[in-house]
Amino acid sequence: MSATIIDGKAFAAKVRAQVAEHVARLKEENGITPGLAVVLVGEDPASQVYVRSKGKQTVEVGMNSYEHKLEADTSEADLLALIARLNNDPAVHGILVQLPLPGHLNSDLVINSIDPAKDVDGFHISNVGLLGTGQKSMVPCTPLGCLMMLRDHHGSLSGMNAVVVGRSNIVGKPMAQLLLGDSCTVTIAHSRTKDLGAVCRGADILVAAVGRPEMIPGDWVKPGATVIDVGINRIQHPENPEKTKLVGDVDYASCAEVAGAITPVPGGVGPMTIACLLANTLTACCRANGLAEPEGLTA
Ligand code: GUN
Repeated sequence: MSATIIDGKAFAAKVRAQVAEHVARLKEENGITPGLAVVLVGEDPASQVYVRSKGKQTVEVGMNSYEHKLEADTSEADLLALIARLNNDPAVHGILVQLPLPGHLNSDLVINSIDPAKDVDGFHISNVGLLGTGQKSMVPCTPLGCLMMLRDHHGSLSGMNAVVVGRSNIVGKPMAQLLLGDSCTVTIAHSRTKDLGAVCRGADILVAAVGRPEMIPGDWVKPGATVIDVGINRIQHPENPEKTKLVGDVDYASCAEVAGAITPVPGGVGPMTIACLLANTLTACCRANGLAEPEGLTA
């Protein structure tokens, strides 16, 4: 059997088009333009690439983008003062502080200083609690993107066995909450799980978010299962040691032979993350203005 490839790049383009259409309507009918503020502290090259890409896509869907680039040695007080300003700025509907922050800054303190209604990353402790109790919240972008792809592929996820490999606050834990919210039977596994292969083989939906290149082989996949690969790992190219290659957390070739559907790396989950950031900004803007939320773009 050869798996259906779930095309995250095409799906993300569809989500962005839906967001753009809704933004155009908001502007025309309500005179409102959603705004996203992205805060980058320091000069981490990967973060700079992400932030540039976020800003570009924000503008492309018709939203306002506010970029705040701060020196690496910015004090916590100065960063908190900027966030307080953004919290109080009615033109800003979403705030994202790019992680990781330089070591002298307390990430938890900084994230929890963002107004939860503007926390488009869904990392604020209030949003974590709201999601965990099934209440309306801002949902972390990567797991939201995975959920959208799963719903699109399966329709209902009710009663399916889902195994999430990885227990991070950004992906693993919120992913498990979302799948539970869609009535899956959910197992959270991780690098210390006993007989991880046997646990994975029980999954109708297998979400890999461990951050270890090609860790999950095809014989851990139940025939016909849906495999969502959240990993983005840069490894040495197997045929050319001078080059690098992006791979996921699953061994794509062997898993694709067994799975019913699979997300590739690159071009799977990755593009969905920024698309969902834009969707979350639109959702936050609609909520702030007491307007109906965009359909199909929330959990
Ligand atoms: N750094 C890497 N991924 C993310 C993300 O999703 N949000 C934020 N704020 N920082 C990140």
